Amino acid sequence: MRRIGFLACETTLPGDGDRRRGDAYEHDLMIAALAPAFETRGLEMDVIDWEAPLEDFEGLDLVMLGTAWNYQDKPDAFVARLDTLASRGISVCNSPEVVRWNATKTYLRDLAERGAATVPTLWRHSVSRYELEEAFEHFDCERLVVKRQVGAGALDQELIDRKALPNPQWRYGHRAMIQPYLPAIAKEGELSFIFIDGDLSHALRKLPADGDYRIQSLYGGTETKLEPSPEEACAAGAIVSALPFDAPLYARIDMLRAEDGALMVMEAELIEPYLYPEQGPDLGERLARAIAQRLD
Ligand SMILES: Nc1ncnc2c1ncn2[C@@H]1O[C@H](COP(=O)(O)OP(=O)(O)OP(=O)(O)O)[C@@H](O)[C@H]1O
Ligand SMILES: [Mg+2]
Repeated sequence: MRRIGFLACETTLPGDGDRRRGDAYEHDLMIAALAPAFETRGLEMDVIDWEAPLEDFEGLDLVMLGTAWNYQDKPDAFVARLDTLASRGISVCNSPEVVRWNATKTYLRDLAERGAATVPTLWRHSVSRYELEEAFEHFDCERLVVKRQVGAGALDQELIDRKALPNPQWRYGHRAMIQPYLPAIAKEGELSFIFIDGDLSHALRKLPADGDYRIQSLYGGTETKLEPSPEEACAAGAIVSALPFDAPLYARIDMLRAEDGALMVMEAELIEPYLYPEQGPDLGERLARAIAQRLD
């Protein structure tokens, strides 16, 4: 029996209800989908806090980064832990190299340079009203999304209307990326494509709640299964092909449609993405097969 560690964190692990995140049910859905499929392939799954004492990792053959959803609060410690596990001969999926590359959204620039269609973005160390005005000019648009270069869950994100600029003292307190607001988010939603070892597993459409533009479940976003057209599957596959390393064990490619109809990548989630098992009934089996192959 091979042993697979599914990394979690104190706010996704079951336990004291108060500590759990509002979306911790997604952790439960992942475990429910993966554990039985792993067992069928002779893989025993250990769900483990990534911050647990090192001896708790002894005997693991591979760890997947699972639902380590607090890593953003302590990214250096997280990557250091992954390095330590790798140095002890545990296969870390996705690898520390992939994690380092993916932790700052400037990776989108690398993807664009490699020919991928990406949401147009201005990169700024800081943003004041001046940079906003410059961005409205540059994109010739009426609304902007300002977000962190390092961030998740739409934290600190701002949607700014050209007719309602913030006051002159306003500053965005983080390294920022500025994008035109793409209206497709409210109508078609964000399209997510889940790849296992480079093969498309399943896809879904994530829509925001009425009156919001963020598709995260914490803001009332909802998901439905998507049967992608060959063109859509191909557009998502092109993003995986543009990654500057071999296809990782798992990847979630989040895309948004431009006004000209083309799909553009908004994020390539390679660290600890939720993999939407409800929309992908084969996910557990695909992952188990891919992991078993890696351990052969
Ligand atoms: N340019 C944009 N146009 C329209 N909507 C956007 C744009 N950028 C972001 N959004 C909305 O805000 C959400 C959060 O943005 P994004 O995914 O880039 O940030 P995040 O903080 O990494 O979130 P997560 O980690 O949960 O994916 C998106 O899922 C989408 O609903
Ligand atoms: Mg996102």
